[in-house]
Amino acid sequence: MNNNQTRLVVLSGAGISAESGISTFRDANGLWENHRIEDVASPEGFAKDPATVLRFYNDRRRQLKTVQPNRAHHLLAELQKQLDVQIITQNVDDLHERAGSTHVLHLHGELLKARSSLEPSLIVDWQDDIHVNDKAPDGSPLRPHIVWFGEEVPNITEATSLVSRADILLVIGTSMLVYPAAGLAAYAPDHCRTFVINPDEDLYVARATIIREKASAGMETFVKKLQEEGIINNIV
Ligand code: OAD
Repeated sequence: MNNNQTRLVVLSGAGISAESGISTFRDANGLWENHRIEDVASPEGFAKDPATVLRFYNDRRRQLKTVQPNRAHHLLAELQKQLDVQIITQNVDDLHERAGSTHVLHLHGELLKARSSLEPSLIVDWQDDIHVNDKAPDGSPLRPHIVWFGEEVPNITEATSLVSRADILLVIGTSMLVYPAAGLAAYAPDHCRTFVINPDEDLYVARATIIREKASAGMETFVKKLQEEGIINNIV
């Protein structure tokens, strides 16, 4: 059986990386319970106190180097052998890539990149801390390559196009509270089946099969369903 033409589009959020040890934003003790969004995730916050903003993302970048992809990331990478898997992630970590996923579109930027404060498309690879006096190639203050609140989401057009061509849509580990990402599911075509993996008992998504489990266990359940329906063969 070769189902490589079956397109699985995945919309992932912080919950998929939770079992790797990265905090989510809105759960108890999440990042937004411990920091004010406007202080560390807005252009105004950066203008007012760049050192605090840079420290926040430097801490995140340092932590990222100490964690590993979990079973959910690995199963998604494994599915590439049998399906056309396209991942749209709101996460700024690189755990999908490290697990081996090759088609990953980052909606909210990437921790291991930095950019110009003037020109959003002037992006450079960046592994280490960003310091207040670091400059982008155009001479402007270097800032994290993160989409902050109130800013454009340049990759949303490509994400919309991917969802509009999905056969299966998997929404995993996101509260679906932040737009425009949260609106993406509405672009799925009529024939597309939507699955949601999220342990939150209160999360409801119209016309979706909801798997109320954590990411790793939920991915095992999802893969089993695909096997039972003959959409994929067994995978390890
Ligand atoms: P949230 O923190 O809003 O939501 C995390 C979701 O993951 C919740 O629905 C949890 O129920 C779920 N979750 C928690 N643990 C889980 C686990 N082990 N397995 C599966 N799911 C689990 O995070 P996002 O939806 O990703 O943007 O947030 C979206 C955006 O808001 C982020 O990209 C970030 C934030 O502000 C920026 O910083 C630009």
